[in-house]
Amino acid sequence: MNYILKKVHQKSIQIHNLYTYFKISSIEWYNIIAGVYDFLGDFYKRPRIEFINNLGIKQGDIVLDLCTGTGRNVSYLAEKVGKKGKVFAIDSSKGMLELARKRFYNQTNVHFINVDCEDLTVEVLKKYKEDIEQVDHIFCSLGYSVMENPKIVYGKSFRLLKHNGQYAIMDLFSEKSNFLSAIIDFLAFAQSKRKSWKIIENNCKDIYHKRYNVMSGEIFVISGRKK
Ligand SMILES: C[S@@+](CC[C@H](N)C(=O)[O-])C[C@H]1O[C@@H](n2cnc3c(N)ncnc32)[C@H](O)[C@@H]1O
Repeated sequence: MNYILKKVHQKSIQIHNLYTYFKISSIEWYNIIAGVYDFLGDFYKRPRIEFINNLGIKQGDIVLDLCTGTGRNVSYLAEKVGKKGKVFAIDSSKGMLELARKRFYNQTNVHFINVDCEDLTVEVLKKYKEDIEQVDHIFCSLGYSVMENPKIVYGKSFRLLKHNGQYAIMDLFSEKSNFLSAIIDFLAFAQSKRKSWKIIENNCKDIYHKRYNVMSGEIFVISGRKK
């Protein structure tokens, strides 16, 4: 058994190296798979909804949804902030974002922004809301395992968060590779070995952290407030 797992692990590394070999970036990959992403199904709907409901997002709040993809969080977040609030749904893949934009074309409190989170500044947000300085919440689901430079994204986005504002991450984690996690890593351009919760643990207070067992390993949710 150990032998098979080792082989799968080696294969998943080789598969990930294919992206580097063919010089495929995550933007290109997600543009290619955008059309089928939603057909793969939202296996993590329960933790997603439970987590969003527990974040204490209020009417009038401003939320950044980093790596929004096809907008799986958008309707829940938009409902929480209400008409007076705003959701900035950000993604670097035009293909993914276009699907989200089409799906929520009548959602007036959501702005879809096609930008790499590494280049996210307040000036980008000001194009959509002139008086914005900082945001109340930052949310990111299944994005930290995919980003090429998670530390840069965290640094850039953390600057935009108000003092006491909340940073929340939901993502996959798999300590040891198995067949399923290797397939998911391949299909999602992901690295599910990343311990992205540490970024919140090290920089925030009032930490909430929960883990769910799933077939490929775990889904973790973590939130914390800016010190
Ligand atoms: C697995 S999908 C997650 C989509 C959605 N949040 C969800 O929960 O289903 C990952 C998304 O992250 C986006 N992404 C990856 N790196 C990014 C970056 N640096 N800036 C913006 N978007 C990024 C990809 O384009 C893709 O749409």
